[in-house]
Amino acid sequence: MNKVFEEITELSLKRALFYPSAEIYGSLAGFYDYGSIGFRVKKKLEDYWRWFFLKSLGENFHEIQPSELMPEPVFKASGHLEHFEDPVVECSKCGFVERADQLLEGFLHMVFEGLSSEQLDELIKKHGLKCPECGGEFKRVFSKSLMFGFETRKGMVYLRPETAQGVFVDFKREFKANREKLPLGLAVVGKAFRNEISPRQALFRTKEFTQAELQVFFDPEDEKHEKFSTIEKEKARVVLASERDKGEQLLTAGELAGRGYFEKYVYYLFMMKKFYESLGLKELRFYEKNEEERAFYNKFHFDCEVFFKSFDSFREVAGLHYRTDYDLKNHEEHSKQSMEIFANGRKFVPHVIELSFGIDRTFFALLDKGFRKDGKRTWLSLPRQVAPFVAGVYPLVSKDGLDEKARQVYELLASEFDVFYDEKGSIGKRYARADEIGVLYGITIDYDTMKDGTVTIRDRDSTKQERVSISEIGQRIKRVFDSLYY
Ligand code: GAP
Repeated sequence: MNKVFEEITELSLKRALFYPSAEIYGSLAGFYDYGSIGFRVKKKLEDYWRWFFLKSLGENFHEIQPSELMPEPVFKASGHLEHFEDPVVECSKCGFVERADQLLEGFLHMVFEGLSSEQLDELIKKHGLKCPECGGEFKRVFSKSLMFGFETRKGMVYLRPETAQGVFVDFKREFKANREKLPLGLAVVGKAFRNEISPRQALFRTKEFTQAELQVFFDPEDEKHEKFSTIEKEKARVVLASERDKGEQLLTAGELAGRGYFEKYVYYLFMMKKFYESLGLKELRFYEKNEEERAFYNKFHFDCEVFFKSFDSFREVAGLHYRTDYDLKNHEEHSKQSMEIFANGRKFVPHVIELSFGIDRTFFALLDKGFRKDGKRTWLSLPRQVAPFVAGVYPLVSKDGLDEKARQVYELLASEFDVFYDEKGSIGKRYARADEIGVLYGITIDYDTMKDGTVTIRDRDSTKQERVSISEIGQRIKRVFDSLYY
């Protein structure tokens, strides 16, 4: 974390992007609220995700809304009750707790993910690490569940730690309702909950966060993708688990498929890349997790990482997982309900590719990328898909009929676009406030407007102003949004 991180969090507090939850009571680590501006951006991001993955890909993909609380058997079957835990160190003197691998990472600047509690314990002893708060000795490393559970009269229920499980338990019903066709994509955009040991870095590691996940159910004997040829020659930066010594490599989709990752998997990897690039997040790479590091349900696991100025490093924002038939088979065994389907002339349990996005991390990546400072001017260069407003409409002064005219222009645009009206303070201050929340344009009504029916349109990024007649504003804005999603 550095100065950019501090500036973004300061701006977020000042401009209602996000802020600590229950602040008046001192707040609780790992919980954040989205404010009036941040929520607009987050919602637009989620809607853009929906458009990109559920509509533009043109496949049999649908969104569902399963329950956030689910009964214990679901998470026994999924393996979360047994495996979803983190290694923890606790100071024997002051009670300070930290994830053991992250404690080591902080001291030794290396990644220790995937090591057992015993291995971490040995390393802590070997390097003589002491509590950073009081210098006390650490107790032995132990494992702690990340699940939030609640007792009910009918047994334990748990808040979902990933949105995916609701999809797996609903799969058969959705398959039947959606013409019994594969591939079938079922998406959830919603909250997930994890009792993280050391929530940190603002929205980056929280206890309650939003995921946008798409589970693609497919026939494991049909690994090809019909549109693969469209991306075969495109390149992505990857770090392969089996070739870590080579570091980052620039490989084509064809080359990845040649290394044993099947076409469908590679196709969705490139769709993830395209999604982030279309939001201006072009400095990204795919980092493959090895057997020790990857989640217990995955056969292939690439993290999609974006470069953050705030951390001066690449950080995970999403993941592409090949979960095989792991989840469906486990639910079949525990629920005693068959997960087999009949398709392509035979009976089988489908396999699953999971595209899992952290909305909060992606939101933060957009702030990180868009944050600009030039002398006294600060602005958020957010992409047009997620800017909280298209334009602010301002009378230069609130007299001589300029305010009335500005209100008319506002009314004209408000039925079609996200615009707001603001007459308070100097025009410079109004532009500055709008720039800080990433508003794309400023439309100003001045004395010339009253004579010739033209206004100025000011561009957020260049600050250039153009005169345009009122009747043309709508068309001008539409042109920008015509190519909205690419
Ligand atoms: N269903 C698969 C799954 O949940 P994951 O890698 O554990 O995979 C997916 O999580 C994404 O969710 C991550 O890439 C990250 O963006 C986001 N995420 C995970 N834990 C988070 C946390 N504690 N706070 C904020 N975002 C988190």
